[in-house]
Parts: sequence; structure tokens; C-alpha cells
Amino acid sequence: MRRILSVIAPVLALAIAVPALAAEHEAKLYTPKGGWSFQGPLGSFDQGSLQRGYKVYREVCSSCHAMNLLSFRNLGEKYGPFYDEKFPNPADNPFVKTLAHDQEAPAIKGINEETGDVEDRPGLPSDRFPDPFPNEYAAKASTGGYVPPDLSLIVKAREGGANYIYSILTGFVEAPSDVTVPDKLYYNQSFPSHFLGMKPPLADNKVSFDDGTPSTIRQQAKDVTTFLAWASEPKQTERKRLGLWVMAYLIGMALLAYGSYRRVWKNVH
Ligand code: HEC
Repeated sequence: MRRILSVIAPVLALAIAVPALAAEHEAKLYTPKGGWSFQGPLGSFDQGSLQRGYKVYREVCSSCHAMNLLSFRNLGEKYGPFYDEKFPNPADNPFVKTLAHDQEAPAIKGINEETGDVEDRPGLPSDRFPDPFPNEYAAKASTGGYVPPDLSLIVKAREGGANYIYSILTGFVEAPSDVTVPDKLYYNQSFPSHFLGMKPPLADNKVSFDDGTPSTIRQQAKDVTTFLAWASEPKQTERKRLGLWVMAYLIGMALLAYGSYRRVWKNVH
């Protein structure tokens, strides 16, 4: 018994120690305080968070990251950030109209319907979100060689989803003393290689929230991630509600079938 133990013990110790050593600089993911409003079968996007999140995207992220799959009108669709039941057609929603009209984009060209000339025109709800850079080279030149990815589907495109995005945004910490961070890269505890070509984009009070929510880095990160999760799957709330109705219907039908079975076979022994 002693001999077996003396063989097993070091092996066991090694099996425990090796992952612990590897874990020292491991990229950990975090969930914000209070979790995500859109998680679970009953979850739905918190509209206040979506509105604050859009503001963070528009005022901070949109100077580098495109969201090519989104148009302004999407913001006013059901369960979207600025949905208002008075305006079932989002193109009529005055707030969405203002957002589209005030977009900071290079002049948009349109055809003058009276003269047929191509002229500058103001932004419309049907416009896509503007691209921050005319092309990839301009993007690289401005960010130090790294192309900021399009954020339309980023929450679906990364393992860890919303927790990953939130953790990246809140993960810019001082590099451990044994790590040298290469030039033009920034240490991030949650990025797999730890060296990210994005400067920490958020800071306390960088965005002012109209509803009085304290504008901390964590709050901005949580809200912009909620907005990006909605953008990746705008029909999620609808899908979950439909799922619940289908379940209720199936349970109802099962009870009915059982009841009629009992009744039909009542007198048979
Ligand atoms: C100054 C430009 C700039 C701003 C502002 C900026 N980013 Fe980035 N971001 C980048 C660049 C460049 C990369 C690519 C970095 C790389 O590949 O190492 C990047 C990468 C990312 C990634 C991808 C990480 C991965 O897994 O590939 C996410 C997510 C991200 N940014 C989210 C945001 C969000 C959300 C905001 C707004 C709060 C934001 N960024 C603001 C430049 C920016």
C-alpha cells in the first residue's frame, strides 16, 4: 500500500500543479453584476440598457468599428432599442429619423427626383450605419496596423459570446511584471493572446447616460454588449416568446389527449 501511494502521490501532485501553472496567465471570462437580461428561456433585452448601449457604440466604438448589417430603421423595430408602439413602422419613428439625420458620415449621395441630378442628401432611416473608414488600408493606417472587426455579429462570432465581449472591454489591466507588451499592443487579461491592437476604448463618465445611470466602465461595457447581443440576434425575444406559446400549447394538447383517453376507456375493465 505504502509503495503504491509513493508512486501515485507525485503523479497526482503533478496532475494538479500543471493546470494550475498554465492557469496563471489564462484568459478568464466574466459576467457583469446582475447577469444578462436576455439570458434564459424567459430573458428579453432590457430596453434602457439597449438605448445606453447604442449611445456607447455611436459615441465611442463607431469611430473605428463598422456594423454593416444594421440600418437605422432596425433601431426602431419591435424589441429594439427605440421601439415605440405608436410607430409600428420604424421609418416613421421621429427619434429614429433624428438619429439617421444626424449621423456623422461623409456626405450621402442621392438622386434629386425633380432634376435627376446626383446630390448630397440628409441621412434616412433606411441608411445603413456609416462605415468609419473608406477601406481596410485607411483603417490599418489609423489604428496602428490592426483592422477593427465589424461588430454586427461579433457576439455570435466569438466563443464566450456576451461574456467574452464584456470581459475584453473591462479586461485592460496592468501587465504582470514578467510580461513585456510589444509596441502598439495593449495588455488585456481576457484576450486569448493577451496582446490586443485596440486601445482601452472606455473610461468612467466617457458617455453621459440620459437616464441618470452612473456611467462607469463596467456599466458602459455591460450596456454596449447588450446592444451588440441584440444586433447579433434582433429576433431573439420574439423567438423565445413564440417558444413559450408553443410549449403552453403542447402541454394543453397533452392534457386534453389524456383526459379524453380516460373518458373513452372509462367503462372498460
Ligand atoms: C480607436 C479605434 C477603436 C475604438 C474606438 C474601439 N475599437 Fe475595438 N478594436 C479596434 C482594433 C484596431 C481592433 C483589432 C485588434 C486586434 O486585432 O488586435 C479591435 C478589436 C475589438 C474586438 C475584437 C476582439 C477579438 O476577439 O477579435 C472587440 C469585441 C471590440 N474591438 C469591441 C469594441 C467596442 C465594443 C468598442 C466601443 C466601446 C470598441 N471596440 C472601440 C479599434 C477600436
